[in-house]
Amino acid sequence: CGIVGYIGRQDCKEILLRGLEKLEYRGYDSAGIATINENGVQVFKEKGRIATLREVVDTSVQAQAGIGHTRWATHGVPSRTNAHPHQSNSGRFTLVHNGVIENYSILQREHLENVNLKSDTDTEIIVQLVEKSVSEGLEVEEAFRKTLLQLKGSYAIALLDKENPDVIYVAKNKSPLLVGLGKDGFNVIASDAMAMLQVTDQYVEIMDKEIVILKAESIAIKDLQGNSVERAPYTAELDVSDIEKGTYPHYMLKEIDEQPLVMRRIIEKYRNENGELSIDSHIIESVNDADRIYIIAAGTSYHAGLVGKQFMENWAKIPVEVHIASEFSYNMPLLSEKPLFVFISQSGETADSRAVLVQVKQKGYKALTITNVPGSTLSREADYTLLLHAGPEIAVASTKAYTAQLAVLAILAAVTAQGKDLSLQFDLTKELGIVANTMEVLCGQKEEMEKIAREYLITTRNCFFIGRSVDYYVGLEGALKLKEISYIQAEGFAGGELKHGTIALIEDGTPIIALATQEHVNLGIRGNVKEVVARGANPCIISMKGLEEEGDRFIIPALHEALSPLASVIPLQLISYYAALHRGCDVDKPRNLAKSVTVE
Ligand code: G6P
Repeated sequence: CGIVGYIGRQDCKEILLRGLEKLEYRGYDSAGIATINENGVQVFKEKGRIATLREVVDTSVQAQAGIGHTRWATHGVPSRTNAHPHQSNSGRFTLVHNGVIENYSILQREHLENVNLKSDTDTEIIVQLVEKSVSEGLEVEEAFRKTLLQLKGSYAIALLDKENPDVIYVAKNKSPLLVGLGKDGFNVIASDAMAMLQVTDQYVEIMDKEIVILKAESIAIKDLQGNSVERAPYTAELDVSDIEKGTYPHYMLKEIDEQPLVMRRIIEKYRNENGELSIDSHIIESVNDADRIYIIAAGTSYHAGLVGKQFMENWAKIPVEVHIASEFSYNMPLLSEKPLFVFISQSGETADSRAVLVQVKQKGYKALTITNVPGSTLSREADYTLLLHAGPEIAVASTKAYTAQLAVLAILAAVTAQGKDLSLQFDLTKELGIVANTMEVLCGQKEEMEKIAREYLITTRNCFFIGRSVDYYVGLEGALKLKEISYIQAEGFAGGELKHGTIALIEDGTPIIALATQEHVNLGIRGNVKEVVARGANPCIISMKGLEEEGDRFIIPALHEALSPLASVIPLQLISYYAALHRGCDVDKPRNLAKSVTVE
């Protein structure tokens, strides 16, 4: 979910709606805003997208303060009733919330037994608790702080009090939240700076268990005991044009096309004055000090971690384990003596990953975050950060962040190897340059990808991706892309594993996308293709120049074999894009998903 708020002199509705549109990547199953002026509070909310919300917002009434929310349902189905803002029963307090209140049923039982709840959400508990404390005689700020002290879980909250239209009460714990400073008599809040870039580029970070008293002319940050906190603002280095679609029909297509540029930018950013690839020496020391690296990530970032493990082990000779964040925290393996934790996260906000980070920091271990978002939670809370420099990624399906993650992991492995006098036998800068050129060639072959999508994927129910070695990992990512945006049941398998079960699903015409970019397993994967063809499958083989055979559907120009995932994923991204497009799906905002999942 995402939240925004504005307090100032202008009418706030358009600012809130535009802000929410920029946050839609965080969830889009329902949305709402509440505005406040001397005459009271108005709430508008609707199931569906911000566009639907726009239709119900009454623009005739002016209001100089308001809050807004776009939702990715956790407690309670997506519906108008469960959409935020939520109000206390008297209507005095109105609140939006991003996060999950874990003890909400206990709080309800213990403190709100006689209160009639209107929704099925954990959020409504918060607003009702504030009202209860106020009715018992507390000042609003005190009641707010008391309520927050009772909550267990994650929250970014904005609260309006009908009796006082000059204040928005704000709080944060574990869920992201920033305060934006306006130049001429206004202030804003947002889950992400992108949302309010339209009005300011000056932001102040809010830390966990802090509240903010937001007024048009001032902000006051306090801890939950009421002590004041001072913090300087920073300038968000985001360009408004980075977050526009331009002439592209979808962000996803734009972001796929940006990959060669991102590759070249990464080479530049990670080069020192002598033109050599270089990484902060503290990071390299920590990597060298570790006897084992634990990569923690979710979704696409997890798939990048699987390829990154190969770079680290093969080049830098350091053992690496790759773990799914949501499993790791309660299913932690026996750790080595000197572990280093590497968090890979496009957004830097994934709550599953953050939960692990909090745990390992408590144990005193070092952590490095590889992220696209400077200042994100995972970046702030780890010891070190390596940035992806991919520019904002807005489509829910991750594309350029994945290839950027691979490039940064490759550079980390190569620089570590150099420091250990392990010669790589090749020049990574040059090879990444070739990758960028190859990406350009692949992005220029969209018509071919569209043909493949039409040929194999327009009516199919399922599709399997197979590969061996790193091709298997790319296949996992290809399958994730396809299922995320086209809703075709897609799964990636190690070529050799298919026969141990999944081959039972092969029917006449089942599409199988096979990757063949690795010489040492080429024979093996070719054998697997024959096995599935013998059972009726319709194979689409994507191979690399030099390894191609007659009948291959698409051939990727030759590049360094270890770096092939950076190129071979592009046809898979494009095929998924066209499959989703021609199946009539919402490419950038697939159903049920959110780009940044800030709940565990
Ligand atoms: C969500 C998105 C995925 C993404 C995953 C991890 O589930 O839908 O596309 O890969 O989160 O996100 P992160 O920002 O941590 O890389």
